[in-house]
Amino acid sequence: MTLRIAVTGWTGQVVCAMLERVPVGVEVIAIRRPELDLSVPRTIAPALRAARPDVIVNAAAYTAVDQAESEPELAMRVNGEAAGEAARAAAALGIPMIQISTDYVFDGGLDRPYREDDATGPISAYGASKLAGEQAVAAATDNHAILRTAWIYSPFGKNFVKTMLRLAEARDEVGVVADQAGSPTSALDIADAIIAIARNLTGRAEDASLRGVFHMSATGEAVWADVAESIFAERERQGGKPVRVKRIATADYPTPARRPANSRLDCGKLARAHGVRLPEWQGSLQACVARLLRDQGKDQ
Ligand SMILES: NC(=O)c1ccc[n+]([C@@H]2O[C@H](COP(=O)([O-])OP(=O)(O)OC[C@H]3O[C@@H](n4cnc5c(N)ncnc54)[C@H](OP(=O)(O)O)[C@@H]3O)[C@@H](O)[C@H]2O)c1
Repeated sequence: MTLRIAVTGWTGQVVCAMLERVPVGVEVIAIRRPELDLSVPRTIAPALRAARPDVIVNAAAYTAVDQAESEPELAMRVNGEAAGEAARAAAALGIPMIQISTDYVFDGGLDRPYREDDATGPISAYGASKLAGEQAVAAATDNHAILRTAWIYSPFGKNFVKTMLRLAEARDEVGVVADQAGSPTSALDIADAIIAIARNLTGRAEDASLRGVFHMSATGEAVWADVAESIFAERERQGGKPVRVKRIATADYPTPARRPANSRLDCGKLARAHGVRLPEWQGSLQACVARLLRDQGKDQ
């Protein structure tokens, strides 16, 4: 029987990746505005119900981290309250709820990768709204998997990889922060993992270890400057000119929202419970850069 996964959003990186990666035996139904608008609570349950899903994945979010500092109420409505509404819809349908969350629920002060039971303490309005979303989902249904990921990039939407490739067109040197550590994570790898987790939750409904909070980022770690170097190295392998990375401090690149210095996530629990481990970041990143450059070539 086909597994029907309803996912919120349409142009988002994770949504697009799920639509691309959908395997035989799975249907991904992406639900977009205006049918489902996370800022309009009454639209949420009817739109999800109409998809007749076996699992709900809430991958849509207010993701403008800096802008959230000046629109905290909207961020809270979309990321916090709406997540609870979607989870209540899942509970009413008697199906599992998968909520995509973030390392930004932490303050980044720990000197090791974060585990699921480490104390949260968001330092931005976005982080606070995503933590509220986790809490609202957990309050609405026990049948949930909250997946905290980090540093998403993909061939879709806006992300760091695309920004670096754009800057490389015009510059020989790019300043990139070298004091924030994490794991650049491909939305395509995330999509594969979500689909595997959805299969587990529906196929082994009696297994309580599949539910709860899980960390889910690529294997290995880096600082943003390492990621930029890796992008430029792959671009050079594909025939591009060399671009240097100037390693700078976060303090030299002020932004409205503060970001955690440590975004590293310990993903052991996900591997043990779900048998899911995301690949090393370098291989997926190189594949993404190569694909973006190929697509650029086609456009010219
Ligand atoms: N990007 C990261 O580095 C990162 C890191 C950790 C966690 N996350 C989390 O991972 C998830 C996926 O992120 P992403 O990078 O794929 O996001 P994204 O590319 O920024 O896309 C955001 C999605 O949310 C949708 N959306 C925004 N406001 C909405 C509203 N009011 N009603 C309905 N849909 C709305 C957008 O819809 P439209 O298609 O209609 O515009 C879009 O599909 C999010 O939960 C995010 O918080 C992201």
